[in-house]
Amino acid sequence: MTTVETARLILRPWCADDLDHLLGLYADSELVRYISGGRPLSRERVVSMLEHALRQWREYGYGPWSAIGKVTGAWIGEIGLNEIPDWPDDNKVEVGWELHRSWWGRGLAPEDGRAALWFGFAQHHLERIISVTKPENAPSRRVMEKIGLIDQGTRSYREGVAVWYALDRATWEISAGPRTPATSDEIVHDDDASPRVQQSATAKFCTGN
Ligand SMILES: CC(C)(COP(=O)(O)OP(=O)(O)OC[C@H]1O[C@@H](n2cnc3c(N)ncnc32)[C@H](O)[C@@H]1OP(=O)(O)O)[C@@H](O)C(=O)NCCC(=O)NCCS
Repeated sequence: MTTVETARLILRPWCADDLDHLLGLYADSELVRYISGGRPLSRERVVSMLEHALRQWREYGYGPWSAIGKVTGAWIGEIGLNEIPDWPDDNKVEVGWELHRSWWGRGLAPEDGRAALWFGFAQHHLERIISVTKPENAPSRRVMEKIGLIDQGTRSYREGVAVWYALDRATWEISAGPRTPATSDEIVHDDDASPRVQQSATAKFCTGN
């Protein structure tokens, strides 16, 4: 389990204790506007997302993070890597983000999206990371652009139309590589783009999975 620290947030793996936080997050109709057409996600769907996330952490060593405010300790939202099993390409790992509304507009998603790219490319050697949303989701698309993902156009997906972005590790290494830390169990860097990493820190936040 890997916890990453960015300038303003602690990013720690989802754990079973996060269910109530996630139910609260996905109950906001404005937040889920481009996810479910504004209908709060059912408990069943959120439980299934959580189970999928826990499986990824167990099997791959990566998955979605909970974003925790460093100063306030507030649970701000979810962000990070997530496999999309039904994505119709070989590279199915997405970087994604959903933050409580009161935290929008402060650049938190790009800050943590960059940490997720670093985690996926430098720590897990993924070849390509994608990001998928509805074409109308301008804020999310803007975050994708800000962290260097490249527009791949639109395609039919889940009975609708999706726009998708992608970044290859080779391209990321050229643009962000020199600022990334070497792989190690615990890294402290002053640079905003170089996250501080701790292994097995989940127990500090969660009672168990
Ligand atoms: C997407 C989301 C995580 C963005 O997080 P954030 O931390 O607020 O991101 P930022 O602070 O970088 O702000 C978003 C950017 O989008 C821009 N933006 C916001 N609304 C916009 C709009 N209607 N049209 C165009 N751009 C818009 C902002 O101006 C900002 O860009 P800028 O810094 O160049 O000015 C947040 O809006 C969210 O949680 N949305 C709901 C969940 C969601 O849809 N997630 C994606 C599912 S695929």
